[in-house]
Amino acid sequence: MAANNGGYMLETKFTVTAFAVFTFLLHGASDVATDKVSVSVVKGDSVTFHTNATMNQQERFKWYFTKDLIARIGGDLNNICTDVKCNNDTERFRDRLKLDHLSGDLMITNISTSDKGAYRLQTFSSKHIGKTFTLDVNDAPAEIKRKTVMEGESVTLDAPKVRNLSDSMTWIFNGTRIAEISGELTKICEDVQCKKRFRHRLKLDNQTGSLLITNTKTTDHGLYKLLTKSRRNHYSTTSIKSFTVSVTRNVKKNDSGLSSGFVAGICVVAVVLLVITAVIAGVIYYSQKSFKKGQKFLHNRRGSGQDLI
Ligand SMILES: *[C@@H]1O[C@H](CO)[C@@H](O)[C@H](O)[C@H]1NC(C)=O
Ligand SMILES: *[C@@H]1O[C@H](CO)[C@@H](O)[C@H](O)[C@H]1NC(C)=O
Ligand SMILES: *[C@@H]1O[C@H](CO)[C@@H](O)[C@H](O)[C@H]1NC(C)=O
Ligand SMILES: *[C@@H]1O[C@H](CO)[C@@H](O)[C@H](O)[C@H]1NC(C)=O
Ligand SMILES: *[C@@H]1O[C@H](CO)[C@@H](O)[C@H](O)[C@H]1NC(C)=O
Ligand SMILES: *[C@@H]1O[C@H](CO)[C@@H](O)[C@H](O)[C@H]1NC(C)=O
Repeated sequence: MAANNGGYMLETKFTVTAFAVFTFLLHGASDVATDKVSVSVVKGDSVTFHTNATMNQQERFKWYFTKDLIARIGGDLNNICTDVKCNNDTERFRDRLKLDHLSGDLMITNISTSDKGAYRLQTFSSKHIGKTFTLDVNDAPAEIKRKTVMEGESVTLDAPKVRNLSDSMTWIFNGTRIAEISGELTKICEDVQCKKRFRHRLKLDNQTGSLLITNTKTTDHGLYKLLTKSRRNHYSTTSIKSFTVSVTRNVKKNDSGLSSGFVAGICVVAVVLLVITAVIAGVIYYSQKSFKKGQKFLHNRRGSGQDLI
């Protein structure tokens, strides 16, 4: 059952945090045992309702949402349906509903407020078991944290709450896992791509799950997601928190753009050119003036008489 939580949970994209409340009541009505489980999540989270069973040839599971059959699975794999294929109702969940073929677990991703209500599981086998999951959805606004840093600085992406040691937390950058913490075990940059990009610049706080990026580069710019998976007895939840990180280019370090040195150089050249132009203009002006004076002088001399020649 734990294995099926990995792959498709990563596909869900959404922000916010799950706060799951759990109550468990056992009703001993004749031979039918009915568990009642309350689950509280935030809009955008994912939830998996566990059957606590393993599929075998005889087992048949049916999942109902209020009165509608929304999922069915039996030993015969032709006997599987989800959502609109199970009933003639309007498509309610589209691709958000997933049925685990091994366990019969039902998963709802990207939960919306209209998913609120009672989900009923019925199993038909040697033991007749019923379970009801009451889902409450908190309609909190999805929030994306924004962080802006200067190139070379450090940035911390804070996990939303105190880490429960039984939770697993996964940091994703641009669609790939970069860090993971599960119990006491931390993994940072397991793949080559991540090692190339972040080379010794990622640190994971093993108490909180917060991520520290040191000596930031402009290539660190992008979308970071923190997936927190919590597993309880009868259900699991996944909440997603998103961060956008902007790394501002440090102009002094960069030679290709208009660095401050380059701009200063242009200013000096401009001032020098201006001075030269002014000097040339002045020279021309005075030389013309003195030329006219000279002509006037000659003219006067000519007019006054020939005696000087
Ligand atoms: C989740 O559902 C909302 C509508 O409730 C939709 O706008 C959003 O795009 C969905 N997100 C994903 C990742 O599918
Ligand atoms: C859906 O409706 C059609 C007729 O409109 C009927 O033939 C079919 O059996 C119905 N299927 C289910 C699963 O109710
Ligand atoms: C941590 O998780 C366990 C179940 O795995 C739960 O019983 C416990 O209450 C959780 N603790 C906190 C502080 O949420
Ligand atoms: C956290 O990591 C430090 C070393 O980095 C280690 O000493 C400590 O035991 C770890 N704590 C937990 C809860 O894993
Ligand atoms: C994100 O990934 C895509 C494809 O792998 C790549 O083209 C793009 O440059 C990446 N973006 C960042 C900011 O790393
Ligand atoms: C799951 O089923 C086993 C027996 O198959 C039982 O011992 C256990 O208590 C069940 N767990 C829960 C959480 O119902």
